[in-house]
Amino acid sequence: MKSLRITYAHAVLATVVLTWVLIVVGAATRVYDAGMSCPDWPHCYSLWWPWPESRVIAAGHPEGYMVNGQHYAGWQVALEWGHRLLAALVGFALLGLLVAAKWQPRRVWAPLALAVVLLVVQIKLGAVTVWMSNLHWSVVIHLGNAMLFMGALFWLWWRAQVAPPMHRRPTPKIMMILSVLMPVCVWLTMLMGAAVSSTHSGGVCGGLFSCAGVWMPSPKVDVGQHIHMQHRLFALLTFVLSVVLMVVAKRTAPHARAAALQVHGLVLGQVVLGILTLYSFGSFPEWYYLLSILHLGWGTVLWLGALNVGLEMRSYAAEAPQAPQPAKPTQPTKRSR
Ligand code: HEM
Repeated sequence: MKSLRITYAHAVLATVVLTWVLIVVGAATRVYDAGMSCPDWPHCYSLWWPWPESRVIAAGHPEGYMVNGQHYAGWQVALEWGHRLLAALVGFALLGLLVAAKWQPRRVWAPLALAVVLLVVQIKLGAVTVWMSNLHWSVVIHLGNAMLFMGALFWLWWRAQVAPPMHRRPTPKIMMILSVLMPVCVWLTMLMGAAVSSTHSGGVCGGLFSCAGVWMPSPKVDVGQHIHMQHRLFALLTFVLSVVLMVVAKRTAPHARAAALQVHGLVLGQVVLGILTLYSFGSFPEWYYLLSILHLGWGTVLWLGALNVGLEMRSYAAEAPQAPQPAKPTQPTKRSR
């Protein structure tokens, strides 16, 4: 029987998955309005374990799960607390990867160092977000940095599994440029999306295709509507870019064709989820929670898919192409003699 061998790349992949769960739980915390249900940090009502509510009351909070005049349910406190616990687990996982990197090739060091720096920044931002009472720009920066951290882990995974470089695949310049533009565009669309959700502008425009009859409302007239339409505009750009990427990859870079196709499929799925989320506000509000969480979860996978194209471009073929063989001298035929 084949023995199961856990490699460094497996451990990195597990950390990527754990981080994805952390992001999804973070989204659930936001949509269920539980982000402020633990008023202090790193404790929660001065306790590490704030259940049942009677313990919180005994710990010097006579009103229980009450913050700024709002009373939270135990499960809301659990969401925020779980989000923090997952964040701590990701931190320990990264620490483990850092220690184990001692026995890994040097190519893993750069993405690992980047991931460590971004995680430290993320923890600081998490605390700032709580202190700022989830002010919208702090939520946007928190999500943007979370994606960068996820991206650094994904890069680490690539470096941990890819065989030592032998031969860089020839890739046209246009493909290199597109492979950078794609993740940048997805990342900016996600930031705009976070601005939409944190300013509660998801339902301010109504349905497709304009915003209450206007293409791009001025921020002077309505900031929420402006932010909302900016998000749709960036989503459109991302969609167009994914089509261009697919066509160019098909023609010029066969080794990136599958990755480009994947990213296009992911963009399509994200657009469908975005449109469903949009209509949920007016037509099926009970589905809003699930759709909004899915929109972020899927968007995170899309972000990794977009990075994957760039990493595929910069990857190496296992073997160098064969040098052209000199033509064999042909046997003179009877007729030519
Ligand atoms: C490439 C395409 C897209 C990406 C990467 C993307 C990404 C995101 C992200 C990251 C959020 C924030 C989620 C959160 O904070 O939990 C968001 C929110 C949102 N997006 Fe998108 N999105 C895309 C396309 C669309 C489209 C096409 C629509 C609709 C036409 C849309 C509608 C929304 C709405 C309504 C919200 C606010 C949800 C809420 O308030 O909970 N998105 N998007």
